[in-house]
Amino acid sequence: MLIHSASQLLTLTPEPQRGAALGTLNMIEDGAVLIEGETIVAVGRTAELLDAAPPEERLDASGCVVMPGFVDPHTHLVWAGNRAAEFELKMAGAKYLDILAAGGGILSTVRKTRQASLEQLLAETRPRLRTMFAYGTTTVEVKTGYGLETETEIKLLQAILALDAEGPIDLVPTFLGAHAIAPEFSGRPQAYTDCLCQEMLPAVRAWWQESAPSRPLPFVDVFCENKAFDLEQSRQILSRAKELGFPLKIHADEFDNLGGVSLAVELGAVSADHLVKTSQADIAALGRSDTVAVSLPCTPFGLAENEYTPARSILEQGGILALATDCNPGTAWCESMQFVLALACRALKLTPAQAIAAATINAAHALRLADRIGSLHPGKQADLLILSVPDYRMLGYRFGVNLVRQVVKRGRVYPVP
Ligand code: NIG
Ligand code: FE
Repeated sequence: MLIHSASQLLTLTPEPQRGAALGTLNMIEDGAVLIEGETIVAVGRTAELLDAAPPEERLDASGCVVMPGFVDPHTHLVWAGNRAAEFELKMAGAKYLDILAAGGGILSTVRKTRQASLEQLLAETRPRLRTMFAYGTTTVEVKTGYGLETETEIKLLQAILALDAEGPIDLVPTFLGAHAIAPEFSGRPQAYTDCLCQEMLPAVRAWWQESAPSRPLPFVDVFCENKAFDLEQSRQILSRAKELGFPLKIHADEFDNLGGVSLAVELGAVSADHLVKTSQADIAALGRSDTVAVSLPCTPFGLAENEYTPARSILEQGGILALATDCNPGTAWCESMQFVLALACRALKLTPAQAIAAATINAAHALRLADRIGSLHPGKQADLLILSVPDYRMLGYRFGVNLVRQVVKRGRVYPVP
């Protein structure tokens, strides 16, 4: 198939776009993409590629931007129920971490998720995935973390694998058993940390090798935060995970700076996520590392807070910045990467081009999948978007609506309703 006559074809770069390089779109005007099966075989000007496909295999993208599908590298997508009542309390002044300490918040979703069957979890998650896909996300990372006991955590991993198998969107799994202190260990965070290190991580590894032997191990993530896991406990969990061969991620500096970013850099984590209260020293450490800084602007927005990731400072220090939704029932129920871009332009002071690169190639690097996705280059998976607008700056500038006309996933064209 040949997609041709795109007003702007954004190919980006296969490399991560670090610091000042962020926003390199490598745009081809009147561009074309030649696809064979699931794979991109050529990109170039329409005039150069038009004859490579017979007329019946051509898709006219005139008046449209064509770009890589969005990669959403941080979500908590599999859960049961909702927390609308809690949202109302928060808007009336209650604080997120106080609700959690009182047994609500994450723990209220844990109760619902433990009770839900696998079928029910799949049924509640599918519509969220459908929305993500319609809004242009072609690969999404999904965390567990609403089980907090081996059995339910494995049920969540099963859900992620099952939804991935259903397609069309690709799911990338992360084990977040360290999302909150399990209710059985209330007031004993160290005991739950020991249980994670001694029992749960080895059990998850054994289950994975039995159930998904052909897939790489999932990421392991920790919520490093007051009222969740302190720096020493986060270090114990991540070090143990590393010893077992898991790649690492961390939730750091969402509400308080506990030093999670430097820990992530020291352990060679693939990404450090949230980064609102990050210190200058931690930002400098990030800039010298390959750990991707994943900013989640929907989270402060969702909590009606005014402080966001110091993105410009991360870029000045040479860091690799990516964007994600953090889609979850507590702080940010948002499936749309387009909304994330619009917010990132205003709250993080990114240009549309920087936001696009952060949501595609840099996000692919945050999942270690940049050899397959995140840019439009021969040999890569044909995951791309055809927008209904001719200028890439419409992304960010316009918000709250869907600018995606068609999603191409693994070479197959899906119309957007
Ligand atoms: O990334 N911070 C921890 N986890 C989520 C919120 C999860 C929830 O409230 O259910 C976050 O904001
Ligand atoms: Fe999160």
